[in-house]
Amino acid sequence: MEINDQGHLVIGGVDAVQLAKDYGTPLFVYDVEHIRRNARSFVQTFQQLGVKAQVAYASKAFSSIAILQIIKEEGLSLDVVSQGELHTALQAEFPAERIHLHGNNKSKAELEMAIMEQIGCIVVDNFWEIELLKELLNKHNREMDVLIRVTPGIEAHTHDYILTGQEDSKFGFDLWNGQAEQALHKLMDSERIHVKGLHCHIGSQIFETTGFVMAVRKLFEALADWKKRHGFAAEIVNLGGGFGIQYTDDDQPLPLALYVEQLVQEVKEQMAYYSLPLPEIWIEPGRAIVGDAGATLYTVGAIKEIPGVRTYVSVDGGMTDNLRPALYQAKYQADVVNKMYDTKNQTVSIAGKCCESGDMLIWDVDVPSLQSGDIIITYSTGAYGYSMSNHYNRFPKAAVVFVENGHHQLVVKREMYQDLTRLDLPYERP
Ligand code: LLP
Repeated sequence: MEINDQGHLVIGGVDAVQLAKDYGTPLFVYDVEHIRRNARSFVQTFQQLGVKAQVAYASKAFSSIAILQIIKEEGLSLDVVSQGELHTALQAEFPAERIHLHGNNKSKAELEMAIMEQIGCIVVDNFWEIELLKELLNKHNREMDVLIRVTPGIEAHTHDYILTGQEDSKFGFDLWNGQAEQALHKLMDSERIHVKGLHCHIGSQIFETTGFVMAVRKLFEALADWKKRHGFAAEIVNLGGGFGIQYTDDDQPLPLALYVEQLVQEVKEQMAYYSLPLPEIWIEPGRAIVGDAGATLYTVGAIKEIPGVRTYVSVDGGMTDNLRPALYQAKYQADVVNKMYDTKNQTVSIAGKCCESGDMLIWDVDVPSLQSGDIIITYSTGAYGYSMSNHYNRFPKAAVVFVENGHHQLVVKREMYQDLTRLDLPYERP
């Protein structure tokens, strides 16, 4: 962490207090060098291990034209889950052949757009989608590479709402009850569909590799069986995202390279055990690329002290720019960016400004003496912060700034009040 002579926090070579002055708050600030470093940890580790791989950035973590430009520059692929994310990718001139489409209820329009834009692959999720896909490929006389998303039946250790690989899940085809195999049949039936392999995603914000290792074993067990019985050889195994990052000192994630090393090692072991050829390994990190590269600046407003109970420090954002504390009881760390050298002499709670008691960004954080106008930073808000922003209480969405080597640049404008009523129509009395 860099602090300048004035005791101000410096992000990517830029004074955070100055950023708050220039762009206003709440403000998302991304350190671009940090994003690049995260991306390279994944890509370079695969290269060093000599394994053919694709690292697809899960754009649900944060999607905007600027971030997708960086992701493109770093040579990553892209995971999109909606027409909106696909549209953003195309606006950023992301190469279509490196885009993968996900979703447990893809619409006809989404599939059609993916087909017409000739994206790299569709990760097929359910039987309804298989029928739609066949119909649309016939209609447009096109072909498509697909992966089959399977649910391996793994319980990763994370919050229930971000678990996805367990048996009782809305995502994917079940491996253990024959549905995945049935999907393979239906897909191989079509000459226009090329089944390239399997996909699974076991959850998000996972620290241990045990869950990933178990998932790999389940996938290869199925692949060995399918090879024997259907002559199906997977060219690709996509192990999803979910690599955990540090939000507070309690979080102890592994270095990103280590996740990759352990995954590759397990895939190699399974492949040797079943005498299968080594497939390409694909992963889809979202949080691990942008999460700890982003932070949010807020201005302190009202301070309410309840003697002997608690001090509420209200800021000018909250659950509209960071839903994670309210939704997952997620924990964050904070500092006062204009008082980085001051002694932390009190414990306060940081409240958002929504009319909702649950709109608390942090319960109990140590800070120096505070006044209204001080600038607070919450760290590691780069993933699922801006992307889950909402208009509750009709607050306009925050702005996003990128900093790199002492330069700063607005990459998403702050919404204005006009934006909030832009789609509203007056009611004409009949
Ligand atoms: N691939 C698939 C199929 C996914 O469903 C997800 C996340 C990812 C990749 C990326 O996972 P990551 O590497 O970012 O953990 N809103 C929640 C997280 C939901 C994740 C949903 N799927 C949060 O704020 O924690």
